[in-house]
Amino acid sequence: MSEATVEINYDDLIPNNVNLSGDGKLKRALESWQPKYIDWWNKAGPEETGNFEVYLRTAVGVDPAGWAKFGHVRMPEYRWGILLAPQEPGRTIPFGKHKGDPVWQEVPGEYRALLRRLIVVQGDTEPASVEQQRYLSKTAPSLYDMRNLFQVNVEEGRHLWAMVYLLVKYFGRDGREEAEGLLERRSADKDKPRILGAFNEQTPDWLSFFMFTFFTDRDGKMQLASLAQSGFDPLSRSCRFMLTEEAHHMFVGETGVGRVIQRTCEAMKQAGITDASDIAAVRALGVIDFPTLQKRVNFHFAVTLDLFGAEVSTNGAAAFNAGIKGRFGENKLKDDHVLTNDSYMVSRVVDGKITAEAEPALKAINSRLLDDYIKDAARGVSRWNKIIRDAGIAAEISLAHKGFNRKIGQFSADFITPDGEVVTEKQWHDSKDEWLCSRADEDYIQSLMKPCLDRGHYAGWIAAPRVGINRQEHDFEYIRID
Ligand SMILES: [Fe+2]
Ligand SMILES: [Fe+2]
Repeated sequence: MSEATVEINYDDLIPNNVNLSGDGKLKRALESWQPKYIDWWNKAGPEETGNFEVYLRTAVGVDPAGWAKFGHVRMPEYRWGILLAPQEPGRTIPFGKHKGDPVWQEVPGEYRALLRRLIVVQGDTEPASVEQQRYLSKTAPSLYDMRNLFQVNVEEGRHLWAMVYLLVKYFGRDGREEAEGLLERRSADKDKPRILGAFNEQTPDWLSFFMFTFFTDRDGKMQLASLAQSGFDPLSRSCRFMLTEEAHHMFVGETGVGRVIQRTCEAMKQAGITDASDIAAVRALGVIDFPTLQKRVNFHFAVTLDLFGAEVSTNGAAAFNAGIKGRFGENKLKDDHVLTNDSYMVSRVVDGKITAEAEPALKAINSRLLDDYIKDAARGVSRWNKIIRDAGIAAEISLAHKGFNRKIGQFSADFITPDGEVVTEKQWHDSKDEWLCSRADEDYIQSLMKPCLDRGHYAGWIAAPRVGINRQEHDFEYIRID
């Protein structure tokens, strides 16, 4: 019997569709990791929420038509499971120098270190975001939003399980050590920080949470989509199923910011304010003005672009060439999928001007993923702008130039405005508060963060959602607190 036909076993301590009970060594290793995971959840996960009964979806299958069930559960009792998308019979490596060979079911020795690193870096982001969001439940704008936060949190926890499964099953002792390390690092810890920069930033308020789920979870989507193409089949199958859950995280981000925008529009219209740049007048209404929203967009966009790594990268080339990490939508692209003779245009500053130059396509793999990400994010931003337009207000949210405020890659040594103008370091710093939130802006956002926990009610700075989760009525009790 192949793994693909193994039903999900919910009687096991660890729900799974990978026939865990048939692999005693793996089962014991994961069962010894599980209490450490719960300990991590209790220490670093959502604070003081262990008794909350939360209306959560739990993955109970990998059938696209009915993979989740909903019900109230206490989060420490959530059934974190190991679920892989079904095996595709006869699947071949879709790209790189092994293109057309049968996919690997075991780790190819020559790529062991590369694969392990990719899995560890992906795995590290999952618990990191839970840690960043630890205190948000204290200031939730509604039970609905708090429920969505927790849904995202438990699923990031499950994504950690997905990566730990791969490490423990396929990488022996060093895989087990890496699995321990994933629970030992902490977001923003000065001795043992998380691996990537954006995952050591703070998520101090709910606007930041919505921006994070819109921008940074979308990086997650791009990374998972590239790894879902992998020639290492267990990684591909893990990532394919993770993408099913990831869609909800982006829904939370896009509709979260969309509801903030909608509420601002409503309040401005009601007060007869037409000038969106009159920050004081808009703030007097207790909503978030668009210039401040734009600054937050600028911040989260740049921090997330840094996650793609150097645009021109030999590691990126190696992972593609090896058949380990593909491109976004690899199977839909119309080229030879080997790329040894192709080039890709990469932007950089040359003689004080932003210029696009041809690079070998293999080395520019990260640059391409970054550009694909920007297009994907821009579609969401245009849906936000439609809300503003429909309200008849003259304002627009935009994405900054990709060189703005970068710490990694082609533009990290340059000073570029959101409009894509190259300026001096002094000019940039003199204008910084026009582009990124000042202390006063942050204080204003923080002043709005008061919990609103009555059923069917929402804080004044955010509109109610159009539909409930799983089509529940508007005053549904998404969370039972005591
Ligand atoms: Fe995730
Ligand atoms: Fe996510």
